[in-house]
Amino acid sequence: MGNLVVIGSQWGDEGKGKIVDILAHEADVIVRFQGGSNAGHTVVTKKGTFIFHLLPSGILGRGKQCVLGNGVVIDPVALIGELDQLASRGMKVGRNLAISQRAHLILPYHKAIDKAAEKAKGARRIGTTGKGIGPAYVDKMARVGIRVGDLLHPAVFREKVECNLVEINNFLRHVYGTRGFNAARICEEYDQYAHRLRGHIVDDSLFIHKAMENGSRVLFEGAQGTHLDVDLGTYPFVTSSNATAGGACTGSGVGPTKIDAVLGVTKAYTTRVGSGPFPTELVDEVGSGLQERGQEFGATTGRERRCGWLDAMVLRYAVRVNGCTSLAVTKLDVLDGAPELKIAVGYRYEGKLYRDMPADVDVLTNCEPVYEVLPCWSGTTSGTTSYKALPVEARRYLRRIEELTSCPIDLVSTGSHREHTIMLRNPMTSTRPRGKLSKMSA
Ligand code: GDP
Ligand code: IMO
Ligand code: MG
Repeated sequence: MGNLVVIGSQWGDEGKGKIVDILAHEADVIVRFQGGSNAGHTVVTKKGTFIFHLLPSGILGRGKQCVLGNGVVIDPVALIGELDQLASRGMKVGRNLAISQRAHLILPYHKAIDKAAEKAKGARRIGTTGKGIGPAYVDKMARVGIRVGDLLHPAVFREKVECNLVEINNFLRHVYGTRGFNAARICEEYDQYAHRLRGHIVDDSLFIHKAMENGSRVLFEGAQGTHLDVDLGTYPFVTSSNATAGGACTGSGVGPTKIDAVLGVTKAYTTRVGSGPFPTELVDEVGSGLQERGQEFGATTGRERRCGWLDAMVLRYAVRVNGCTSLAVTKLDVLDGAPELKIAVGYRYEGKLYRDMPADVDVLTNCEPVYEVLPCWSGTTSGTTSYKALPVEARRYLRRIEELTSCPIDLVSTGSHREHTIMLRNPMTSTRPRGKLSKMSA
């Protein structure tokens, strides 16, 4: 086994950071392929807690090469801030970070447009992170984006900024009634970033290709989640990139035949930050209990995450559109002590029963989930590192997830620390399929 893509199976914050950090032990190269500093990936180690927004979560591993692929949108302020923070904690990042020359830059006007557009939308707002992600991808698609490689050519950079600002300043001043931007000031600021980042800039596709040719194992770290994907998510309440596994190819210049496996990360329940449909959302004390026990606050914005039961419709869809070869189930410990557990297995809307994820946002907003009820366990799963040590009801819950998704579980996470993990099979190294969970029960 060699090259693995790790993606979120729900609406983000599934615990991808923790899982990538663990699997990075077996990887040589770790690649972020989409999104930007809207991501917040948490890794808890003996040295403390690290939250990564742009840097791949594998950056903590010694001798690991990290890459920001061409599909990422890069805010140099956020990136340099992260590098400085790591340095202040004794971890200096040098040549082990490569940044694609084709990746697009986030400019100050993208953040201003993001915030102004959200404000103007009022009740229809998406609840973005305000990091300028959508507007940066809009410019990329409109073919007026400015790329990391442009940082190395100040005259080209200046011309592009000046050209873009003619339209953007007009728009900001006359449509949103906010202040415009000064091209010279942006160029001066970004020139400093160019000096700081120039040694990291590479052709990502070529870089990864050569590493693969030399036998390196590559781990692709997704950000956000399947249902936030701009094509396949709950549109328009999505982010502006392809957070699904296909994005790993287009976002890093690697062909699909080079990907060996896809790991879908899912919480043992469901959360979502920002607006948009969430069929199994719990707006009662059960939901607030999950929010409190799971410490469900956004790692980037600090906003409270909405919480609800696990949704097998959401997961089955994720397994299908990503071609998941296995799953990692996180935060099992948060369910400890619940009176009962529910899993949505269908949706009912206007007399029709849906067994597959509908694309229509109105159906998703107004449907009633059809639940299967399972008993919860009375003991604790917190910190458990062996499958057999789990209470029988927890094992039954995991088995049911496998059955409903037709996808095997490789990892179970029982706490935020690296060590609090049950590794049933390592998807980076193992070529053999795992035996059935039912056969592993004591
Ligand atoms: P990501 O964006 O997918 O990397 O996930 P986040 O880091 O935004 O959110 C996951 C949160 O859950 C973080 O605070 C993690 O430290 C925490 N976490 C991850 N796995 C577990 C687990 O198994 N149990 C508990 N209690 N917390 C976990
Ligand atoms: P990680 O990688 C959870 C959500 C925002 C908003 C929508 C669009 O940590 O899982 P954007 O700023 O991207 O235009 O916002 O997407 N969102 C996330 N939710 N986890 C994330 O990243 C997210 N990144 C964006 O809350 O609803
Ligand atoms: Mg997160």
